[in-house]
Amino acid sequence: MIDPFGRMVSYLRVSVTDRCDLRCVYCMAEDMTFLPKREVLTLEELERLCGAFIGLGVKKIRLTGGEPLVRRNVMSLIEGLGTRIGPTGRDGELEELTLTTNGTQLAKHAEGLVAAGVRRINVSLDTLDPGKFHEATRWGKLDQVVDGIMAAKAAGLAIKINAVAMRGVNEHEIDRLLEWCGRHGFDLCLIETMPMGEIEEDRTDRFLSLDVVRARLKLNWTLNATGYQTGGPARYYDVAETGTRVGFITPMSHNFCEACNRVRLTCTGTLYMCLGQDDAADLRAPLRDGASDEELRQAILEAITRKPRGHDFVIERARPAAVSRHMSVTGG
Ligand code: GTP
Ligand code: 5AD
Ligand code: SF4
Repeated sequence: MIDPFGRMVSYLRVSVTDRCDLRCVYCMAEDMTFLPKREVLTLEELERLCGAFIGLGVKKIRLTGGEPLVRRNVMSLIEGLGTRIGPTGRDGELEELTLTTNGTQLAKHAEGLVAAGVRRINVSLDTLDPGKFHEATRWGKLDQVVDGIMAAKAAGLAIKINAVAMRGVNEHEIDRLLEWCGRHGFDLCLIETMPMGEIEEDRTDRFLSLDVVRARLKLNWTLNATGYQTGGPARYYDVAETGTRVGFITPMSHNFCEACNRVRLTCTGTLYMCLGQDDAADLRAPLRDGASDEELRQAILEAITRKPRGHDFVIERARPAAVSRHMSVTGG
């Protein structure tokens, strides 16, 4: 699948539920209305759509949410998709199946994930301070997440920690996060906050450019630029002192859309061609109207012809939010 700007689409992010057991303040409002069940695709419907994308050349699938591991029976989807991982790299085979999780349910699922063929996961963790974590997630327990991460490590999963850098929240804790990640052998990925979905506060107040964060980190760590690539948007540096990596995801300060290789499928079967745009294609209607595999392929290929050049987030216009949907609809 090649888009109008010559970019190959090989990475599908699938939000398997809009629900989450936390309410990170920059992600969701406290009082969220979640989707009624009839609007949400069944796991079988999601697997069929994923199969269509794999047939069209998608090599990497990342399950997100909301929180993917709170979806009931999600392991059956993960196991089903795991059987599509293949060794040859041919179209029709997945190279990677992975997920982005908040970690709360990892202790229960880590071994099952490995058995299904998952090799690495990304866990969102913005702070190591139990009080701040509780406040930032509105009720989360840091211990539960750390226990989950350690269970995942023990099960053999490679782990990347995602932290959204926020002024006045965790900006003075980033060295500590890097030290902690380094000690446990985890990569750390820092993210600039994006204006998606209305929340109670103005994100402009929280925005922190990662140029500033990187300059501060360089005072204490030796960062060597590396060409390490995961197919995601981060630019990575090797951290000499820890032997791990730190990545920077800079949608606001350094747009990376020209290398975009991904589209996003929501749990209602809506396909968003860009995280920062509202245009979407409805794949649920053809799916539920009995479309053949070929008709589904055509619907996907038509949508790809509408993939825009990129987002137009600007932090000065963080209010109203640049796109109305919350991050939890598409899982980032
Ligand atoms: P890797 O496979 O490890 O590279 O993961 P990833 O960075 O692709 O996925 P992850 O779920 O860890 O995403 C981290 C952050 O990057 C999230 O906050 C996403 O919203 C953001 N992100 C991922 N892709 C895009 C994109 O295309 N545009 C923008 N603006 N942000 C993105
Ligand atoms: N801006 C940037 N990142 C966000 N995330 C959630 N909301 C936002 C936002 N508004 C992050 C989460 C998670 C990833 C999938 O998206 O922390 O790591
Ligand atoms: Fe849940 Fe993730 Fe949003 Fe936090 S960032 S509320 S963990 S979906």
